[in-house]
Amino acid sequence: MPSSKNSSGRLISFEGSEGSGKSTQIARLAAHLQKTKRDVVTVREPGGTEIGEQIRNIIVHNSKGDEMCAETELLLFAAARAQLVREVIAPALLAGKVVLSDRFLDSSTVYQGIARNLAADPVAQINRFAVGNVMPHLTIVIDVPTEVSLARLKQRASDLPDRMERENIDFYTKVREGYLVLAQGLPERIVVVDGTKSADAIEKKIWSAVKARLD
Ligand code: TMP
Repeated sequence: MPSSKNSSGRLISFEGSEGSGKSTQIARLAAHLQKTKRDVVTVREPGGTEIGEQIRNIIVHNSKGDEMCAETELLLFAAARAQLVREVIAPALLAGKVVLSDRFLDSSTVYQGIARNLAADPVAQINRFAVGNVMPHLTIVIDVPTEVSLARLKQRASDLPDRMERENIDFYTKVREGYLVLAQGLPERIVVVDGTKSADAIEKKIWSAVKARLD
């Protein structure tokens, strides 16, 4: 597997709570990058490969989902990630492409580690095992207050909330705070943007962070 540090490609991950506006900003950034003649690959986690999409189904839509323990959840997310890295991300980086990932290993650190209270060390080790030497060059955390995130979730046109979306306000508060603490500790990789600003303002902020890493 190529090292993400040595290849000319770039991996940019997007993180944040449900309803933070990741998808909108990923689409805008992809369009922006394509205008600058970059080859862009967009993936989502969990998923992005056939195996990963099946794992996603088990995690979020399984009828037995509510009985899933946090350890199983962590390992399933890691399994989907391991497949995505080797099947899609690493080859794309090697080919010099820009990969935009809707969530990556920080989601496990925050959702399973911090919000579900799994011990930090095994979560970090499992994350490292899953990604190998492919780490994001840049991570954008779109930060929104928990109330905003939950209100946006409710407004979504989709029918029933999935297993993860049924979590309560305390869980999502831990997720939000978890991302902010993580970002404080890794300021060279993680950039936090205010998700309550207009989509145009957020796009501008993201583009300046991305541009600095592409040059
Ligand atoms: P999303 O596609 O709306 O972002 O939903 C994915 C859900 O899975 C979301 O609730 C976050 C959660 N998740 C984890 O808990 N851990 C992980 O490692 C990943 C990738 C996602």
